[in-house]
Amino acid sequence: MSTRQANATENAPKALGPYSQAITASSPKTVYVSGQTPIDPKTGELVKGIEAQTEQCILNIKAILEAAGSSLANVVKTTVYLQDMNDFAAMNATYAKLFPEPCPARATVQVARLPKDAMVEIEAIAIVDERRTTKPAFVYDFKTAPNRRGLGSSKWEQMLQIKPDVSPDVIPFSVADMELKNPPEIVQGLKDFLDTAVLGYTQPTPEYLKAVCDWMQRRHDWTIKPEWICGSQGVVSAFFAAIKAFSEPGDGVIVQTPVYYPFYKAIEANGRTIVRNPLKFDGEHYTIDFEDLERKASDPKNKILLFCSPHNPVGRVWTRDELERVGQICLAHKVLIISDEIHFDLVMPGYHHTVFATLSEELAQNMIVCTAPSKTFNLAGMQTSNIIISNPSLRSKFTAVQESEGFSGLGILGYKACEIGYTECEPWLEQLLSLIEHNHEVLKFYIEKKVPEVKVFDMEGTYLQWMDFRGLGMGKDELEKFLHEEAELFFDEGYIFGEEGTGFERMNLACPTHKVVDAVERLASAVNRRKGSR
Ligand SMILES: Cc1ncc(COP(=O)(O)O)c(C=O)c1O
Repeated sequence: MSTRQANATENAPKALGPYSQAITASSPKTVYVSGQTPIDPKTGELVKGIEAQTEQCILNIKAILEAAGSSLANVVKTTVYLQDMNDFAAMNATYAKLFPEPCPARATVQVARLPKDAMVEIEAIAIVDERRTTKPAFVYDFKTAPNRRGLGSSKWEQMLQIKPDVSPDVIPFSVADMELKNPPEIVQGLKDFLDTAVLGYTQPTPEYLKAVCDWMQRRHDWTIKPEWICGSQGVVSAFFAAIKAFSEPGDGVIVQTPVYYPFYKAIEANGRTIVRNPLKFDGEHYTIDFEDLERKASDPKNKILLFCSPHNPVGRVWTRDELERVGQICLAHKVLIISDEIHFDLVMPGYHHTVFATLSEELAQNMIVCTAPSKTFNLAGMQTSNIIISNPSLRSKFTAVQESEGFSGLGILGYKACEIGYTECEPWLEQLLSLIEHNHEVLKFYIEKKVPEVKVFDMEGTYLQWMDFRGLGMGKDELEKFLHEEAELFFDEGYIFGEEGTGFERMNLACPTHKVVDAVERLASAVNRRKGSR
């Protein structure tokens, strides 16, 4: 929040100079601008009246953005500082008039009280990005954050258990599902299906299997056969079953830590041994420690590599070279690969996900690949995953374990939702990827500006942002308590992914942009309150 005392001299047009210098079409893409009153830059006169003052602020911002080749349509967030809160309605009306639709900023107006002798000031975060300047904004509704209270959402119930009196506009940023409306094609498609379907025992239809095969071909350049597709209620239950199928009690299963915490659970619950191959971390990037992997793989007791690709929580999309080296090591030491590729559709521009099994036929015969439409289209509650196993012997061992556990197929609506996702929802996915990329940029920019003690890493894939909070100098329990109680922030604590994650947090970015900005504001305020009380 601005504590600057806005006065006539300070608010004069000189503000336009430095800001317009700072914005260029190439770098940085995310910019922070401030449009101030009460001086009209053309006349030098004092602007009077809340509507005129607001209008002048917005015009100032518009001029700054246009000078930089951008426009008001790219403003994602505005904070309006008013002396008198009663002026909000008038200011908002001016806003609605001047901000073009669609413009995410219209939904994110926030008001804060200005110091006594100040009048109106508007700060805006805008994205200078040619794609977004020339293309219309989202056609899907990515601005509404659905209220999931009382609807059985695991993430929401966890938050409400921790803080029953949490503020009504706070959303959780933990478990990996989306705080967004479902793809409308899936909603409508399921409604239409229910008009005629009989909800009896079911099995995958040829249309379903074709949709899965076509998706793998089209999106991942991966040719699969329908008979390779094994249904599973989830990727987690698939790797539980696979560990049982392909190893014996006491055998070692290698994991690359920090990693998605059910990996540990699946190994321990099956009486196998967790073998850690920690990722290398240079303070900026995570890479695979191949020497250590080779050492661990060469121990004959270690039978499986449980591989996460893209990697949750560090957000790496492994390169072809990295995959080749991992693959060679595993083949050389007869280590079977369970490749969890559940996030394979969620890859940021400039990165490319390679399905591990596409590297060679030899590798494909030595692995199972876990896929699902659940992360891609927010269908986790539908419990439908596709485990692709081209090796017939591995496939029959895997399905034998599933059967021994009483697995008898998936739900009729899960199949249908997956089929609709894979056949009709590619445009939704493309826009979702833009939203995630955008949320990452906004978060990174805003955190650097407001809470520089926190480090936001590059995110190559997934919608899960890995961040380093160690700069705040808090211990593990203190940090968790601080985030919950003082900032009303509900992330996934880094330590749950393994000891290397202590002091880190994982934030789910699949939500409307203004919720990301709100989160940073709550964090910045809480950090500043702490600093102030020292
Ligand atoms: C790497 C990874 N695997 C598996 C899952 C969950 O899979 P499912 O819901 O299909 O069991 C998640 C969810 O966050 C994940 O991140």
